[in-house]
Amino acid sequence: VSLKPYNTFGLPAVAQTLVRITDDAGVRQVVDHPDLGTTPKFILGGGSNIVLTRDMPQVVLKVEVRGLRVVEERADAWIVEAGAGETWHDFVAWTLDQGLPGLENLALIPGTVGASPVQNIGAYGIEVKDRFESLDGVDLLTGRSVTLNGEFCAFGYRDSVFKHSLAGRVVITRVRFRLPKPWQPVLGYLELERKMAEHGVTRPEPRQVFDWICAIRRAKLPDPAVVGNAGSFFKNPVVTPEQCRDIIGRDPEIVHYPMPDGTMKLAAGWMIDACGWKGKSVGKAGVYEKQALVLVNRGGAIGSEVMLLAKAIQESVYGRFGIRLEPEPVVV
Ligand code: EPU
Repeated sequence: VSLKPYNTFGLPAVAQTLVRITDDAGVRQVVDHPDLGTTPKFILGGGSNIVLTRDMPQVVLKVEVRGLRVVEERADAWIVEAGAGETWHDFVAWTLDQGLPGLENLALIPGTVGASPVQNIGAYGIEVKDRFESLDGVDLLTGRSVTLNGEFCAFGYRDSVFKHSLAGRVVITRVRFRLPKPWQPVLGYLELERKMAEHGVTRPEPRQVFDWICAIRRAKLPDPAVVGNAGSFFKNPVVTPEQCRDIIGRDPEIVHYPMPDGTMKLAAGWMIDACGWKGKSVGKAGVYEKQALVLVNRGGAIGSEVMLLAKAIQESVYGRFGIRLEPEPVVV
């Protein structure tokens, strides 16, 4: 089975076996299967956060669990649930259609609902962990259904237990989110503040925030349906205040954000840009013209070209700033 249509980077790779999962029972069938049961598995959602550099000997489980529902209303929140195979953006739009805002800042993030907790997706001041209630999944070793809460998921910046001890171990089938009442917009991001000023609005409606986020993202991030990519290719590195001061001493312009714990987050996109990479290419892999943190497929790229480009970028950023950039997507 060609995986090219199943990864947003559009990289070529072949899987021996691909099984579509539409419910928990489907996962159990694979676990209990005489051959497939013992073969290593790879869990695939929307394929928007992976870089395929080789063919896959594993059984690829393509998660296609559907379903959107309002679970309950509490005094302080609405609980909503989505099947792991639902498209993230469509789910966000659906919550707004139901009059249940709270996820609007996460509009237009590519991928599926099931992938959202794995890397704790985030944008414009909100991360999934801020709205997470619990999730259901099936343990690939035991075939048992499990329900996991936020604490168990150990969310961090673009990180969770599903990237560590539970990597490849649990097929997430449904995710529930807690949307706080009353709704409070999460503003504060420079680009959002600009939109408010532009429209002369001080107290925006949820739908307005949603539309602005969509416009902001469309203006600087490539649509994976048109240009292959996997979103930000590197994480924004977190450094100590001393390291940050040191870098500011040499590069006063560097974009940096203080974190609640006293550390500093540096804008990797700014550093890559400062190293002159914007718009450059290695083979058919390139650095997006409008956002240097995004690597793109210029047409017909293969995974190793993307990784060569990534390595060259890492070397020049290390050479200039002494910072090692870490890839954000899962490299297979
Ligand atoms: N910048 C440049 N040149 C560039 C790119 C960025 O100078 O080529 C500067 C920008 O001007 C800005 C700063 O760097 O001052 C940060 O850029 P931006 O606001 O675009 O955000 P980011 O840090 O590059 C992060 C997330 C995005 C998320 C945005 C908005 C990560 C790895 N990326 O990007 O998430 O949408 O903030 O919240 O944390 C993703 O994870 O795939 C992703 C797209």
